[in-house]
Amino acid sequence: MKPLDNRHAQPSGNPAGSVISVTGLGKTYASGFQALRNVDLEIRRGEIFALLGPNGAGKTTLISIICGIVNPSTGVVLADGHDIVRDYRAARTKIGLVPQELSTDAFESVWDTVKFSRGLFGKAANPALIEKILKDLSLWEKKDSKIMTLSGGMKRRVMIAKALSHEPTILFLDEPTAGVDVELRRDMWEMVRALRDNGVTIILTTHYIEEAEEMADRIGVINKGEIILVEDKTVLMHKLGRKQLILQLQNPLMALPAALSGYDLALAEGGFQLVYTFDAQSEETGIAGLLRLLGEQGIDFKDLQTSQSSLEDIFVDLVRGRA
Ligand SMILES: Nc1ncnc2c1ncn2[C@@H]1O[C@H](COP(=O)(O)OP(=O)(O)O)[C@@H](O)[C@H]1O
Ligand SMILES: [Mg+2]
Repeated sequence: MKPLDNRHAQPSGNPAGSVISVTGLGKTYASGFQALRNVDLEIRRGEIFALLGPNGAGKTTLISIICGIVNPSTGVVLADGHDIVRDYRAARTKIGLVPQELSTDAFESVWDTVKFSRGLFGKAANPALIEKILKDLSLWEKKDSKIMTLSGGMKRRVMIAKALSHEPTILFLDEPTAGVDVELRRDMWEMVRALRDNGVTIILTTHYIEEAEEMADRIGVINKGEIILVEDKTVLMHKLGRKQLILQLQNPLMALPAALSGYDLALAEGGFQLVYTFDAQSEETGIAGLLRLLGEQGIDFKDLQTSQSSLEDIFVDLVRGRA
């Protein structure tokens, strides 16, 4: 009987469709600072995932661990089925990283630095591929320029070209548009979408909510080293579409009358406020019916206002709730 060839077997513990699987990940730096606690995260193959969080939340630490630059203190990470610690080389070839900090050899030409990056991964030279990458990133004209002569935006493009040089199937972009001009930001978004359309999984970190909103298929929110939410963007957008009608009551209510049980209501401000939450995107908000019912119940109000929550509000609420 032939020995079992399991080179192509599905790795265990890797949920179907997950290209990155993070389980129980923790990081305590040598200083004693705990930057990540018990992070569980599944990244789906082919998606654009935005990791959103304030400065210091642990975004770069998380990415650095997945890319093998920082050692985890606890937990397991699989990249395309490869354990990032035990099977580092196999994991790393799958991954392209565009780091937050720009660091390239100032005296090298654009062409040489990108070619060299590919070589580092033990891949055979492929000038046609490097040419395509440079052209896609509008760097072709600059291929013979020394990195030090380039603008900040151009240097960032070079970092992306380097990250793509070994044909990764998973691309990490750490704060790709921080301090970048509007034009480069648009180009970057376009490039990210094109890569996704070619089957590359993209994970980007950002502290710009609009960027997550614009780009992502799913959004994860991280704060103080903990993932506090992972959601489809459309679901988040639906929450965005939720509005509140706030009624200032003449007389406080101690409890919600049973007659109003069909409505999504809450009491606030010691019973002086009645808060009705509804879907602003649906045809029928239910407001007319609610106001009629209130009249029948003899519940008078002296003022009313509406408010709409933004992703920003949701984000701030989440972060505050954990503080
Ligand atoms: N090498 C390190 N030693 C000690 N603390 C660190 C180190 N690197 C990062 N930190 C701390 O870990 C926290 C998370 O940092 P980081 O992952 O860079 O966050 P983010 O990328 O979300 O801004 C911060 O409080 C930061 O000061
Ligand atoms: Mg960072």
